[in-house]
This record gives sequence, C-alpha cells and structure tokens, in this order.
Amino acid sequence: MTPMPAITCMSAEALSARLGEFADLLQACVHGGASVNFVLPFPGSEAEAFWRERVLPAMGAGTRTVLAAESDGRIAGSVQLSTETPPNQPHRADVTKLLVHPAFRRRGIGRALMLALEQEAHLRGRSLITLDTTTGGAAEPLYAALGYITVGVIPDFSVATTGDRLEATTVMYKQLSGQGRAA
Ligand SMILES: CC(C)(COP(=O)(O)OP(=O)(O)OC[C@H]1O[C@@H](n2cnc3c(N)ncnc32)[C@H](O)[C@@H]1OP(=O)(O)O)[C@@H](O)C(=O)NCCC(=O)NCCS
Repeated sequence: MTPMPAITCMSAEALSARLGEFADLLQACVHGGASVNFVLPFPGSEAEAFWRERVLPAMGAGTRTVLAAESDGRIAGSVQLSTETPPNQPHRADVTKLLVHPAFRRRGIGRALMLALEQEAHLRGRSLITLDTTTGGAAEPLYAALGYITVGVIPDFSVATTGDRLEATTVMYKQLSGQGRAA
C-alpha cells in the first residue's frame, strides 16, 4: 500500500521556491477538466501567474494558508484556506483550490488535505468553513462525506473549463465546533 504523503503548511518562501511545481499541479488539474476558475487554453505562464499574483500576496497579507501534500519530493496535491473575511465574519473561512494531481487521485489525499485544512482553520479560530464546488464534480461527494452540508445549487454559475457551456455550482458549509460564535 502506498504511504500517505506528508502534508505541510507552506511558507511564502517555500512556495516561491517551488512555484513551477505548484503551477504544474494547477495546470494538470485544469487540463484534466477541473473547473477551478480557469478556461482552456491554460498555459503554464497563466498557472504560474495565479500562484505568484493571487496566492503569494494573500499569504503575505496573512489571509491565505496553503497546505501541500508531498510524495517522493513531488507536490501531489494542495488546498488553500482563505481567511479574508469581512469584520463581521471573523469566525468564517473559505476553502479554495483543492487540487490533487491526476497521477495521485483516489488515494485519500484530497480527504487528508481537507482534514488538515480543518485543523488549520480551528487553529486560526475559524469555526465555519464555506465553499462552492462544481455540481456533479468529483469534489462534491468528498465534501459531503466529510460532513459539509449543501445549501443549494446555483445554475449556470461559471463557464466550463472547455469554454463551451455553463455549469452549476453547489454551495456547502461545515461548522467545525457545531456552535456559532455569539453575536
Ligand atoms: C476532487 C479531488 C480533489 C479528489 O482528490 P482525491 O485525492 O482523488 O480524493 P480522495 O482519494 O481523498 O477521495 C475521497 C473520497 O471522495 C470521493 N471522490 C473522490 N474522487 C471522486 C470521483 N472522481 N468521483 C466520485 N467520488 C469521488 C469518494 O467518496 C472518495 O472516497 P473513496 O475513494 O473511498 O470512494 C480531485 O479529483 C481533484 O483534484 N479534482 C480536480 C480539482 C477539483 O475539482 N477540485 C475541487 C475544487 S472545489
């Protein structure tokens, strides 16, 4: 049985040093059909620009946590926790870009990344996790199995990766502690 990859919380410096690998991960997922905000063609330069221009500044601002699963020195998967919430939502965080490289799927890495993300959220005092995911996509049953509750489906929410149709998104949430913070 293949051992579970180690999951680490990336520093901005470590992510900068491995920008190409993170770009490869994102590009492989998008080219594999993942609907994660991008439309084909999706060149490596665009994938790298995402990490450099969107993720690293947010990490620098202290509002983004990036977790990575590493297998034999290779980035096998990643997930991000965004704590960039308004002043009246200090207890909430968003999940974004859960990505497992196509070569590493169905080994429990996505699940392990989400469990690690929940621990990070808890450490940061975030008890409500929100997300949206392509309706009918691979991640939807994963989130449901982890206890995320479906709020509803928004039809025609985004352009499919292939650019030829619109796709629905499912909005989900999980309360980590089971209790909301007092107003
Ligand atoms: C969604 C994704 C992260 C799952 O990663 P993974 O490491 O393969 O997932 P896991 O092995 O941890 O799967 C855990 C459970 O999720 C469900 N699941 C995962 N992939 C699935 C699929 N393709 N179809 C149906 N259920 C799936 C299953 O219940 C699975 O348990 P099982 O393997 O015991 O049946 C991966 O397919 C991926 O990166 N997809 C492209 C990016 C994407 O869509 N991200 C979501 C953005 S919101």
